[in-house]
Amino acid sequence: MKKERWATKTGLILALAGNAVGLGNFLRFPVQVAGNGGGAFMIPYFIALILVGIPLKWVELSIGRLGGKHGYHNCVGMFGLIGGNPRFKYIGVLGLFIPFTVCVYYTYIVSWTLGYSVFSFLGSYFGLESRECMGAFLKGYQGVESNQYFSSLAYSYTFFLICLGLVMYVLYKGVSRGIEKLAKVAVPLLILFGIILMIRVFLLGTPDPSHPERNITNGLGFIWNPDFSELSSASIWLAAAGQVFFTLSVGWGTMHNYASYIREKDDIALTGLASSSINEFTEVIIGGTIAIPAAVAFFGLIETQSIAKGGAFDLGFQSLPIIFQKIPLGEIFGGMWFLLLFFAGITSSVAMGQPVMSFLEGEMGLSRKKATAILGIALLLVAQPVILFLGNGFLDELDFWVGSFALVVFAFLETIMFGWIFGMNRGWKEIIKNAEIKVPRIFYYILKYITPLFLFAILVHWAITEVPSKLSMMGVDQGNIPYIIAARIMMAGIFLIFVLLVWRGDRERRVRKK
Ligand code: TRP
Repeated sequence: MKKERWATKTGLILALAGNAVGLGNFLRFPVQVAGNGGGAFMIPYFIALILVGIPLKWVELSIGRLGGKHGYHNCVGMFGLIGGNPRFKYIGVLGLFIPFTVCVYYTYIVSWTLGYSVFSFLGSYFGLESRECMGAFLKGYQGVESNQYFSSLAYSYTFFLICLGLVMYVLYKGVSRGIEKLAKVAVPLLILFGIILMIRVFLLGTPDPSHPERNITNGLGFIWNPDFSELSSASIWLAAAGQVFFTLSVGWGTMHNYASYIREKDDIALTGLASSSINEFTEVIIGGTIAIPAAVAFFGLIETQSIAKGGAFDLGFQSLPIIFQKIPLGEIFGGMWFLLLFFAGITSSVAMGQPVMSFLEGEMGLSRKKATAILGIALLLVAQPVILFLGNGFLDELDFWVGSFALVVFAFLETIMFGWIFGMNRGWKEIIKNAEIKVPRIFYYILKYITPLFLFAILVHWAITEVPSKLSMMGVDQGNIPYIIAARIMMAGIFLIFVLLVWRGDRERRVRKK
């Protein structure tokens, strides 16, 4: 089998940026800032970025490049390698389990953005000028309720199948001819759309003269004026760290995979920094300027606060469409906004599918065709309960355990393995090997001591404050309990299947040796 590689340096950086830039940059980030002290949020955010985010990015890229040199393309083989003992493979299983599981529901959400972009261009929701109506439109689309807008899941399914098909097609084409090509188109386009929309938002001025306080300056003030009194609460620090993990895609196992297609003689230090910078630009500058400031200009401060509390979907799918109805050429701006989300999201979906793809090909020895078929069918199967039980808290349950909790566990174990088992001296050599920038030596100490401590503190805090109430389903609707239990059984099942596959592979290898 020919070794897969990134074709060009630009392609590599764009692919890494495509992995990281996603729905999180444009929907999750603004809601987090608005809900956690506005501009003050940026202090813990940047601290977490420097103490955890960027160091982890370097760790994951260096593990990945080293793994790739030995023919490993996912965390299973890589962790066995750097741990010096095949047992460590079972920690690496998290690097398959997390992206696979999240890929299912993330791709489903990405498919809404494609649907809504079509609805915007066609003006389908034009005329629904209140948040209640747009809310009903969204719930109808998601199949949470059947109403005058949608009576079945037909549209949802159609757009989901299109997105899943596209993801599988790109994965089938491979690293340089699929993922890299997609990133070269999608990332520049989404940045272009983002800049156009940002300028449009700046020009909003005071849309309604009878409400002079609803203007774009106050909108920018709402998101950026710091409320320092919030800094003393632990929750803002946790929220900031969580956002950094989410947006940089660290702690998931996908960076390792992308890095495994980098040549040994190529740099990872500058590459990691450059792709993270693109991510931060789209997040802080573009993502922070569009949704929330526009909402303030049209709805005012009080209502925007309630929108932000309603979460990313309320902001993106309910409130912004109302604004598109009120501005000239709103169909086009609306279509552009959802296409921007779609391009951002689809490159991330692909990234989440790729580790398992590499596992099926590398560890299980399947052909590209077979691996594509199996992964596609598995994603489609797991997506069924996610789609059908959306209104019953199924997706949220997966998102808490896999998309928030498991990755902190994974990141913590990974820093211990890298800094203490593999050893920080060897680890540091990997990071600075062929580096095109001088990585400040202080990161040696940050990585060895501060990053793991920081992660450990987050874990302990979660274990005390969040995990018990989640486990005991405190405050959960009685009727949703069976669905939540089903979600847990499914997660355990998926994890177990990966463990068994790894175990079987190991046993076969032992038998062959004898
Ligand atoms: N960073 C992505 C975003 O901002 C989400 C994400 C998290 C992701 N982990 C990932 C994407 C792993 C690809 C691979 O939306």
